[in-house]
Amino acid sequence: MKTINIAGHQETIIERGDYPKEKLQKILKNEVIAILGYGPQGRGQSLNLRDQGFNVIVGLRKGSSWDKAQKEGWVEGKNLFEMEEAAKKGTLIQFLLSDAGQIAFWPKLKECLNEGDCLYFSHGFGIVFSNDTKIIPPKNVDVVLCAPKGSGLTVRTHFLDGRGINASYAVYQDATGRACERVQAVGIAIGSGHLFETTFQKEVHSDLTGERCILMGLIQGAIKAQYEVLRAHGHSPSEAYNESIEEAFQSLYPLIGEKGMDWMYANCSTTAQRGALDWAPRFEKAIKPVIEECYKSVQTGNEARITIEANSKSDYRPKLEKELETMANQEMWQAGKILREFRPERLKPLK
Ligand SMILES: NC(=O)c1ccc[n+]([C@@H]2O[C@H](COP(=O)([O-])OP(=O)(O)OC[C@H]3O[C@@H](n4cnc5c(N)ncnc54)[C@H](OP(=O)(O)O)[C@@H]3O)[C@@H](O)[C@H]2O)c1
Repeated sequence: MKTINIAGHQETIIERGDYPKEKLQKILKNEVIAILGYGPQGRGQSLNLRDQGFNVIVGLRKGSSWDKAQKEGWVEGKNLFEMEEAAKKGTLIQFLLSDAGQIAFWPKLKECLNEGDCLYFSHGFGIVFSNDTKIIPPKNVDVVLCAPKGSGLTVRTHFLDGRGINASYAVYQDATGRACERVQAVGIAIGSGHLFETTFQKEVHSDLTGERCILMGLIQGAIKAQYEVLRAHGHSPSEAYNESIEEAFQSLYPLIGEKGMDWMYANCSTTAQRGALDWAPRFEKAIKPVIEECYKSVQTGNEARITIEANSKSDYRPKLEKELETMANQEMWQAGKILREFRPERLKPLK
């Protein structure tokens, strides 16, 4: 446990060393961890817990997740159950269905909760936007959150590589007096690198903003804009692709992650440094109002309503697939598909 101070803001970071295996086993020894859902998070978190010998069961409806779980060693009647049965057996219930799935299953889950159970989320969505989701837990259970700051796929692959994805944690309701200990312990047990504290509201506001902006929305928009400008000025697809995508993700961005932006700048040419230092504030000025607008849309619940409405339509999946197909067919991603084949070393297959 380390206290850090950044710009006068004090925070406590929980590290793996704070919860060695024996301590985790002691805290979690009477828990039946029931994981509902086998999407990226349910899969990653459940497999990481199972590999370390914790008492974990999975609750699913019959269908694609069920089949996948069976293929990965979960056995019906032993550690794989229908959702309500798993929820009843669990004392620490990890509610990891899709956010729309959580809304649909909540009326049933609510009936399965026992006094003193711990209801665990990996997103603040259901609780914070309860006006829309109707997810209002009973007062006699702990309600906690542990949100890995990365895809569920990397929760698993980093764990297998001996690394860890950082996660935020929060306590919304402490009925047993043990909510904090429970969420910190399970947060480390799912394989997190370190934990930092948040609230359900702060988590959902930052997460929805992040994925709409830097992590996904903004990055797609910015890459497309640059690629199209280069192509419109007569640059070849290879040149536009390498300058907008390949160089970013294969060379420069990993350096930022490793040592920071200043270090990446310091290791580029003086020409690149001068230009980037001059243009960065112009982009900041242009983009900040859009991020601010996005944050407000998240804060007012507008983004949640849009998401719930879209995801609850019966044609949601085919519509989404069509949108993703349109993206895949954009020239830059078609170029990527062809040009990635020329990488000298093929990437290791994702586990
Ligand atoms: N994806 C991430 O990287 C990430 C990162 C941090 C936090 N989170 C949070 O973690 C939670 C889980 O997200 P996820 O991405 O792992 O899962 P997801 O892909 O959003 O959801 C998939 C799971 O939900 C089940 N499901 C959906 N609707 C259902 C319904 N009506 N009834 C029963 N099951 C239903 C699916 O089962 P079927 O196969 O049977 O349809 C599948 O097992 C969410 O709260 C999410 O916001 C996700």
